[in-house]
Amino acid sequence: MRKPFVAGNWKMNTDTHTSVDLSKRIATGSSDVAGHSVTIAVCPPFTYLQSVTKALSASHIAVGAQDVYFESNGAFTGEISPFMLKDIGCTYVLCGHSERRHVIGETDDLINKKVTAAIAGGLLPILCVGELLSERDAGQTEQVVSQQLKKGLAGLSYEKASAVAIAYEPVWAIGTGRTATPQQAQEVHDFIRMLLAQMYDDQLTDEIRILYGGSAKPDNAEDLMSQDDVDGLLVGGASLNADDFLSIIRAAV
Ligand code: 13P
Repeated sequence: MRKPFVAGNWKMNTDTHTSVDLSKRIATGSSDVAGHSVTIAVCPPFTYLQSVTKALSASHIAVGAQDVYFESNGAFTGEISPFMLKDIGCTYVLCGHSERRHVIGETDDLINKKVTAAIAGGLLPILCVGELLSERDAGQTEQVVSQQLKKGLAGLSYEKASAVAIAYEPVWAIGTGRTATPQQAQEVHDFIRMLLAQMYDDQLTDEIRILYGGSAKPDNAEDLMSQDDVDGLLVGGASLNADDFLSIIRAAV
């Protein structure tokens, strides 16, 4: 039985005050379920990670970063290493978010290096995959997701891969208000689990959590979570509102 996992990706939002305030509200509102009934994580911008980890230190809410570099230290101006994230109390890190793939230009090869380095540094990566609308319309969803998944996990042993969660985020559903239907999400999640079974063994396939992301909201969270292979939600916009995020957490339990 996979424990539900709800993560909030705050993207490039919040400030010193709102990041701490939001964290505290989420912690207070989820204290009866956080950790034991549902894994909860928030992923603030780098600049607020430390204040958020401090604000959440007495809670069972984990903190994740939105990105990481693959080297552990050295002359890499502007980059942040897995060691640094671990050092300030991060547990998770998003790797290969579609905005990093399509806005910043990250490649599967770079994302694989980040996933590998994150695990080596003791972080739990959330590897994001998902197709563009043009790719879905052209019937290429499985091909795109398969390539992103296989390349993202390339070279990882069974033990290492078991540290990873997958987030299926169809790009056409991100920030658009156009959520994938529960059936569309289930189809791709089932496909991802089948690919994992080909790459690894059945035990990992049963254990690994596959989150859906893309306009997840309080009013669609329960339907999405009712699907067999939807183990959690990676929430963007709605995670910036404590009440909405808490409703989504409740729907996932
Ligand atoms: P929205 O929930 O705002 O569509 O964002 C989804 C997302 O990109 C989460 O990583």
